Amino acid sequence: MKRDSFSSKFGVIAAAAGSAIGLGNIWRFPYIVGKNGGAAFLFVYLICIILIGTVIMISELSLGRKSQSNPFGAFKMLKSSSNWKYAGFLAIATSFIILSFYTIIAGWVFSYFCSSITGKLATIAPENLAPYFQNIASNTPVVLLFNLLIIGITAFIVISGVQDGIEKYSKILMPILFFTLVILIIRSVTLDGSIEGLEFLFKPDFSQLTTKSVLEALGHSFYSLSLGMGIIITYGSYTKNEENLVSLSLKVIAADTIIALMSGIVIFPAVFAYGFEPEIGPPLIFITLPAVFQEMPFGTIFETLFFLLVGIAAITSTISLLEVSVSFLTEEFNLSRKKATLLLSIGLFLLSIPSTLSFGAWSELKVFSLTLFDLFDYVASYIFLPVGGILTCIFVGWVWGTKNAFKEISSNGMYSFKGYNIYNIIIKYLAPIAIFIILLYSTNIIKL
Ligand code: PHE
Repeated sequence: MKRDSFSSKFGVIAAAAGSAIGLGNIWRFPYIVGKNGGAAFLFVYLICIILIGTVIMISELSLGRKSQSNPFGAFKMLKSSSNWKYAGFLAIATSFIILSFYTIIAGWVFSYFCSSITGKLATIAPENLAPYFQNIASNTPVVLLFNLLIIGITAFIVISGVQDGIEKYSKILMPILFFTLVILIIRSVTLDGSIEGLEFLFKPDFSQLTTKSVLEALGHSFYSLSLGMGIIITYGSYTKNEENLVSLSLKVIAADTIIALMSGIVIFPAVFAYGFEPEIGPPLIFITLPAVFQEMPFGTIFETLFFLLVGIAAITSTISLLEVSVSFLTEEFNLSRKKATLLLSIGLFLLSIPSTLSFGAWSELKVFSLTLFDLFDYVASYIFLPVGGILTCIFVGWVWGTKNAFKEISSNGMYSFKGYNIYNIIIKYLAPIAIFIILLYSTNIIKL
């Protein structure tokens, strides 16, 4: 059977950037930039992504392209008769677990999109926005219904295939996302008092820059670029030979960072202009921002556009997360794409039930003092993800070998010996050690 693949350069970039650009870019990155010294932090972040992010991204792309296989198959093929294939399996499992709670949040976003477009959100008094959010999140049947909707949309796109599904929709959705952001930016920066928000975001303050912020920058770059969970390996396997993996990675990374900054330019000038406090995570977009939009002339229109934007960012990420498992089932178990997607969607829905309940009936149920939702997030994002990243570096650097990886990267004869030396050092030593430190830090083994 011929493998499906991306058909155009723009298609690959849109799909990979679509995966990278997600909730993390909107509710996390701008805030950590603001809190960690603005432009000073940005500078550190850029170094992290250029040195480490790019190298891991091109390594994952080359693993996929060389093996023409899903993550499990890629490790298996490049080092047969070894246990390395389980590193691939870990990556697939990580993406599946992340997907099981990502769709819940995406479901909240869609419910907010609906209550925004119908004007309902605008009628809720600002002091009732927090309880309103609590009510939505704890209303298990409604959340599961929206969850099902998200899984349905994701499955529909994935069933349609790599070229006719993922690529086609990414090519439509990513430009919409970009132009929506531009409209929102124009609105936000023209508000009186928006300058304070821009200062929060960009004013360099080197005194805020600590070792902790460097680790935070690295940790975030990993999650934000969708590394360490098989996504980029899978997308690499759909990338044509003539594609230049280095320039592809740089473009995806640039898009991810630019969109994250643009989200910050939408959010913080508006938040400060109306005298609200900057926030991070769900409280920012589900409580603070609806209050901000209520203050704004024609706020409902901008609010609807905003939730559309967040929804698109989430969907282009969920399709990449699901595709990893679908490629695994179709290639390793010979299932049809349709069957694999349906089977996984059912599994996904079931797996998301405990996390959903942890905002409702099971909110008191704690494991290691975490709710089930937080536990899934913690295990996948803070343990499996860095472990997957370290294993990828070790595999490429020491097992498959940097020479082979570099051969794949420079298969179009573009890269010099000098590039090889830098690549070699980063993938063998710098990247795995840096990720290991993040792992120790995020699991509280080292405290700063
Ligand atoms: N990179 C996405 C973000 O920034 C999150 C994500 C993680 C998407 C893992 C896919 C896989 O939100």
